[in-house]
Amino acid sequence: MINLATVGTGWITESFIQAASLSKQYNLVGVYSRTEEKAKQLADQYESTHYFTDIEEMAKSEEIEVVYIASPNSVHYEQALTFLKNKKHVICEKPIFSNTAELEMAYQTAEENGVYLFEAIRNIHAPNFHILKEKLPMAGKLRSAVLPYMKYSSRYDQFLQGEEPNIFSAKFSGGALVDLGVYPLYVAVGLFGEPKKVSYHPVILSSGVDGSGTLLLDYDGFVCTILCSKIVDSILPCEIHGEKGTFLLGDAAPISDITFMDSHTKERQTIGVDLEEQNMIYECINIAKIIADENNQEYERLKEWSKIVLRITEEARKQNNIVFAVEK
Ligand SMILES: NC(=O)c1ccc[n+]([C@@H]2O[C@H](COP(=O)([O-])OP(=O)(O)OC[C@H]3O[C@@H](n4cnc5c(N)ncnc54)[C@H](OP(=O)(O)O)[C@@H]3O)[C@@H](O)[C@H]2O)c1
Repeated sequence: MINLATVGTGWITESFIQAASLSKQYNLVGVYSRTEEKAKQLADQYESTHYFTDIEEMAKSEEIEVVYIASPNSVHYEQALTFLKNKKHVICEKPIFSNTAELEMAYQTAEENGVYLFEAIRNIHAPNFHILKEKLPMAGKLRSAVLPYMKYSSRYDQFLQGEEPNIFSAKFSGGALVDLGVYPLYVAVGLFGEPKKVSYHPVILSSGVDGSGTLLLDYDGFVCTILCSKIVDSILPCEIHGEKGTFLLGDAAPISDITFMDSHTKERQTIGVDLEEQNMIYECINIAKIIADENNQEYERLKEWSKIVLRITEEARKQNNIVFAVEK
């Protein structure tokens, strides 16, 4: 069992605590909120031993071994660095940081302090991603892929009413690509590797970040199109097209089901498995195992994917002059 503490009191923190509990790999020993009332309430609800309103004090706790961070994107870096410097492993919500300079510095700090830093990205830990990766050769020579992840956000209603929710704000390193596009992007990077060329075609909101966008990833002989949005919905499945067959995926995050259609016979075959209802459990289990086994090989693989994904979103933003406040 690893002693866990959390940062942030949004619904995603509760989901992670529930998944961590179901995984039976973690023991909740601390929760942090900027306000005592919320910290105490979360600690009481999930029977955490301690609660904190001071990050530095929490980072110095001898009991805590790993910290899950689910604060607004722009805050991740400073918080993660505080814990890494105090020799705590960090599991940081996606998008891990605002840019690659922060990521490099944080990995270096983790290494210097003998701890691990993970990006919490549920879909690459879930079983259907691994099944798809193993079965991908069935498709033959790949020619194209279309990976949509478009969800109308209730926070867009607030945005339309003149507010600026964190996720639609450059101040908090928000936008559709870094918030939702990273899920299909991780699928692409995990399956196909780093693309040769990237081009991003966003719909920019008045706040300066992308509400929607189309990201093109150029690979040898094929192009992967990622559609992401927080201002419209899509119910399109994901598709990966090869000369021998096509994979259809119910959803990108996590991959809910997989069907393979043979190009010649048109026969369809279901090859995915049903997922646990609380599908954050897979990342909880995998990360706990990497920490317990000190599995540096697996850690380096995840680290490489995080670096590629952030390089791509940074390049996509640069092409479109999407500048976060932390970069000004
Ligand atoms: N994996 C997933 O499926 C998933 C789903 C949703 C979100 N996320 C990620 O989780 C993170 C949090 O998302 P969210 O929508 O919950 O964000 P949020 O509502 O903007 O903030 C999350 C928490 O951070 C704290 N916070 C708010 N503003 C802050 C500030 N200015 N400085 C420091 N702390 C602040 C608040 O907790 P206190 O008031 O208690 O301090 C709040 O509950 C994001 O990185 C997001 O991308 C992941």
